[in-house]
Amino acid sequence: MLEIIFLLNLITYLNACADGPLGMSNGEIKDWQISASSTYPSMWDPDCHEKFSRLYVENGKAWCAKHRSDAEWLQIDLGVSAKITGVIIQGRTGKQEWVTSFMISFSTDAFQWQYITDKYGNQKVFQGNFDDHSIKHNYFDQSINARFIKFHTLQWYKHPSMRVEILGCQECKQLLGMPPYGRIKASSSLALRNKQSCQPNDGYLLSNKGWCPRKRNINDQWLELDIGHPTLVTGVVTKGKGDTNKNHWVTKYKLSFSNDSVVWTYYKDANHLEPKIFGGNADKQMERTHFLNNPFWGRFIRFHPIEWNEQIGLRAGAFGCPYTAPCQPGYFRVNENSNCIENLAFQKEAWANERKTDEKRSNRNSLKTRSFISLIQEGHPSLAVDGIDENSLHKCAIMDNYYSERPTLVINLGRMATIGGVVLKTWQGKGQDSNFAYRDYMYGLDRFSVFVDKKPITSQKNLEQNSTGNATIDNETKSKSNSQKIRLNESNLCNFVTRNNYAIFAPQIHLQCIKPLTGRYVYIQADGRSNRWSRLFSAVLCEVQVYEL
Ligand SMILES: *[C@@H]1O[C@H](CO)[C@@H](O)[C@H](O)[C@H]1NC(C)=O
Ligand SMILES: *[C@@H]1O[C@H](CO)[C@@H](O)[C@H](O)[C@H]1NC(C)=O
Ligand SMILES: *[C@@H]1O[C@H](CO)[C@@H](O)[C@H](O)[C@H]1NC(C)=O
Ligand SMILES: *[C@@H]1O[C@H](CO)[C@@H](O)[C@H](O)[C@H]1NC(C)=O
Ligand SMILES: *[C@@H]1O[C@H](CO)[C@@H](O)[C@H](O)[C@H]1NC(C)=O
Repeated sequence: MLEIIFLLNLITYLNACADGPLGMSNGEIKDWQISASSTYPSMWDPDCHEKFSRLYVENGKAWCAKHRSDAEWLQIDLGVSAKITGVIIQGRTGKQEWVTSFMISFSTDAFQWQYITDKYGNQKVFQGNFDDHSIKHNYFDQSINARFIKFHTLQWYKHPSMRVEILGCQECKQLLGMPPYGRIKASSSLALRNKQSCQPNDGYLLSNKGWCPRKRNINDQWLELDIGHPTLVTGVVTKGKGDTNKNHWVTKYKLSFSNDSVVWTYYKDANHLEPKIFGGNADKQMERTHFLNNPFWGRFIRFHPIEWNEQIGLRAGAFGCPYTAPCQPGYFRVNENSNCIENLAFQKEAWANERKTDEKRSNRNSLKTRSFISLIQEGHPSLAVDGIDENSLHKCAIMDNYYSERPTLVINLGRMATIGGVVLKTWQGKGQDSNFAYRDYMYGLDRFSVFVDKKPITSQKNLEQNSTGNATIDNETKSKSNSQKIRLNESNLCNFVTRNNYAIFAPQIHLQCIKPLTGRYVYIQADGRSNRWSRLFSAVLCEVQVYEL
């Protein structure tokens, strides 16, 4: 079922791709992507060149075939596959040369070609121009998927000369992993005293600087791009180091990729056994792009320099299809149109400072106002980090102030991270028969506060506890804290939400940290209202999602 939903979503997004010019006229298609069967020699006519085959290029210029023959063609490599809906052609203004009819063939690999056919199954003949300056648009009956497209000159006026544009959409040619979704790191980086260059962050394609490894000329260095979520990568691009008078760039590199940054695979072209060696740069500023003939899925991409000019200096980027389907497990969107990002809390260790002993648990049945909770056997803290975003009571963590004045959910992220914010999914009264239960939950609750700390604070007494190495909260410490009030340092407060305007009861509460906080423990503390006759309350958290700054 999940797979079907996934597919449907993928289809909607493919259909949503917008039709437009693919880059002949605006130069997004580079000269090296254009080739031809032959070209009229430039010593005879300098205005005839493949690079002038762009729609609206200056008057007098165009691609002109060398021979007046119906076997001539102009080929465009779009880099990555496109959904093509039609083409536009134009003659050579001022020279009285144009193509009056043509055919189109296309390919995904430049190896197997097929022609666009008409309704009888014959190679379709498209109507060309009537003069040397007007443009002629031809729709295809059906759109095609192709990376390479060829215009075959069939008939012409005076000489087969043309300028063209291709219409379609190319979802998979967008830069991936740009800030804020992208992160970048490196095997090592030059420790400059002022750290104003050479850092991993200077290795972004859009930076004006560049990354350099600490040791000047050693192998096994890498620059790693984390694009945030597993994504289809269709190409890579590199540049040299921009902010130096020296000539530092990478001339050859390999590429590896991974979903978890543990298991890595070297990129190989289709039908190749050895990792591909990519040609790098020849100067500091020019981008060098490679379209992959074997696009891959991955979240982490490493560039491994193997040869360089003088010293390693690198800026790198990757492009592909932005991921728009539902996020994979362990990832989430902060709002419905933002990118999928990693949920640091996903399936991590979580506990609450209360409700430990069965003896106490049985007591609660005696409390009338809280009887609804007794119907629920579980409510375990781990339900808030299980990745199951379901708004039903038995799928949610329940915290109450029965044993602890300020019940607190603690999540051990398993590593240090600088937290950008937290998303809380709250219970909306579903999965519970009695409406009264939900009101009870609502009336007593006053505030959620989110804290981030390096230490596993379970009570005041344990503030100075050993926090080196991995978090090991022994059972004793946990249970000791059950009846104690957790005191978190206000300077570790990420943010909070109160019951003003019922903000605390929204289905989704996004709390962005008001300052960067680094830690491995996230605390979500609930406070009750002080002015109510019953001080009892429950806080129900169906999912807690945490993201890195
Ligand atoms: C990464 O995940 C995607 C989608 O889940 C999968 O198709 C791909 O094979 C994985 N890639 C690697 C390198 O494990
Ligand atoms: C903290 O715990 C580690 C591992 O359990 C131990 O090696 C270390 O000596 C402890 N440090 C302190 C200050 O207690
Ligand atoms: C922390 O835990 C991880 C995995 O559970 C383990 O690989 C690592 O060695 C541990 N680190 C310390 C300092 O105990
Ligand atoms: C601590 O808790 C774990 C799991 O909850 C359990 O397996 C273990 O026996 C407990 N240890 C002690 C000393 O109670
Ligand atoms: C809270 O944290 C700040 C900064 O880390 C520290 O100076 C202060 O002493 C802490 N307060 C308490 C009560 O621990």
